Amino acid sequence: MSGEGVDPEAARRVADEARRVLATNRRQGVSDWNGMRYDFVCPSPTHYPFQWFWDSSFHAIALLQVDAGLAKQELRCLMQGAQPDGYIAHMLLWDTSSNPEWFTPEACIRLDHPHFTGTIQPPVVARSLERIYDATHDAAFVRELFPRIVAFMRWLDRVRDVDRDGLVTIIQPDESGLDASPKYDREMQVRSQPPSDTLPDWRRGMHRLFDVYAKKTHEEQAKLDVFSFEDVMMNTIYADAWRALARLARAIGLEGADEYEQRYRRTLDALMAKCWDDRRGLFWDLSGAREDQVRVLTFTSLFPLVLPDLDRAVAARLVNEHLLNEQEFWLTYPIPSVAASEPSFDPGWLTKTTWRGPTWLNVNWYLYWGLRQHGFRDVARELARRTVEMQAKGGIREFYDPLTAAGQGATSFGWSTLVLDLIAAER
Ligand code: GLC
Repeated sequence: MSGEGVDPEAARRVADEARRVLATNRRQGVSDWNGMRYDFVCPSPTHYPFQWFWDSSFHAIALLQVDAGLAKQELRCLMQGAQPDGYIAHMLLWDTSSNPEWFTPEACIRLDHPHFTGTIQPPVVARSLERIYDATHDAAFVRELFPRIVAFMRWLDRVRDVDRDGLVTIIQPDESGLDASPKYDREMQVRSQPPSDTLPDWRRGMHRLFDVYAKKTHEEQAKLDVFSFEDVMMNTIYADAWRALARLARAIGLEGADEYEQRYRRTLDALMAKCWDDRRGLFWDLSGAREDQVRVLTFTSLFPLVLPDLDRAVAARLVNEHLLNEQEFWLTYPIPSVAASEPSFDPGWLTKTTWRGPTWLNVNWYLYWGLRQHGFRDVARELARRTVEMQAKGGIREFYDPLTAAGQGATSFGWSTLVLDLIAAER
C-alpha cells in the first residue's frame, strides 16, 4: 500500500464533476400514462434516459453528499413503480415520447407493460434507505418506504427462490445488472472472445430467452430453467437487504426484525454451503436446477465481503489471495469486473459488450465498505485513492480501462458519482 491518501486536488475536481452530473441528469415531469410526478436522476442523458432500479438506489447514496432531500426524492420516485403483488421492474419508462431507439429489438429489453419492464435488478434500495436513515434519522421516511421494499423482498423470496434454499435466481443476465458478463457465456451461447465483438451472440441469446418467456407469468418463467443463475452478487445484495431491513426495523421500532435477520443469515449460510470453494478461496455462481458452479473468475467471486457477518478467515482469503493478487484483480486501477487471468478479460472494451473487464464504480463502492468493515482499512484507503485518480484521468464515465484509466461507455454516468461517498469517507 502506498500509505498516501486520496489526492485533495484530484478529489476536488472529480467531486465538482460528479455534482455537475447529478444535477444535469435530473429528470422531472408528470407521466402521461399514470399521472404520477417523476423526479429522478437518469443514468446517462445520451445512453440511458429512463429510471433504472439499482442505478437510482446508487444515485440516492451519492445524492446524500449533495442534498438529503434529493436522495429521498430519488427513492420516492423509484418506489412509485411498486406493483400490488410486490414486483418492481428494473426500468421505469416515465417518458417514452422521445428515445425511440429503446423500442427496437437491438435494445434487448422486455416490457411487461408499455412503461415498465418484466425484468428485476438487485435490491440495493434497502441499503440506500439505511444510508438515508443514518444520515438524517428520519424515521417517518423509513416508515413511508419500508412496506414496499419488504413487499419486493417477499416477491423475490416467493417467486425467485424456486428450490427454497435461501438463494434467489435471476432468469436472464440483465437481472443481476451484469448484462454480458462472461460468467453467463455458456448459457447465453456467446462464443466469440476478445478482440471480436460479442454483441451479436449476446443479442441472439437475449432474444432466445425473450421468446421462451413470452406470455408466461413471472411464476411460470422462474420454473422454466432455461437460464437460471443463483448469482453470488445478486444474493449478497439480497442478504444485505434483509440485514439492512432488520437493522432499520430495530432502530425505529417496526415489527419483523427477527425474521429479517434470520433471512439474512439463511442466505449467508447458503452462500457458504453452496457457492464457497474452499480449495480456491472464493465463491462461484450456480447455474440451473442442478446448481453447477460456474468457474469464471469475476469480481462477483469476492462480493460476499460486503456482508459484515462473513467469516473472518473467509474474508481474509478473498482479500489476500484474490483482491490483492496482481495477476487477477489488483491492477493499476482496480477492481476489474473480470480477473486479468481469464481469457475473456477485455480491459479495452473491444468486445463492445459490458462487464467483461473494465472497472465500475458501484463495485468499488461496495467492496470499499466491505474492506473497511472486515478491518482492511489500508486496502480500502488505497482503493479509494486509485479510484479517484482513475476518475481524475477518465472523467465521470460508465466504466474504465483498469490498466490505463481511460473512460469508456456512456458519458456523465450517474452511479460513477458514488465517488462522492468515497471522498467523504476518506476525509
Ligand atoms: C447497463 C448496466 C446495468 C445498468 C444500466 C443502466 O445496462 O449493465 O447494470 O443498470 O446500464 O445504467
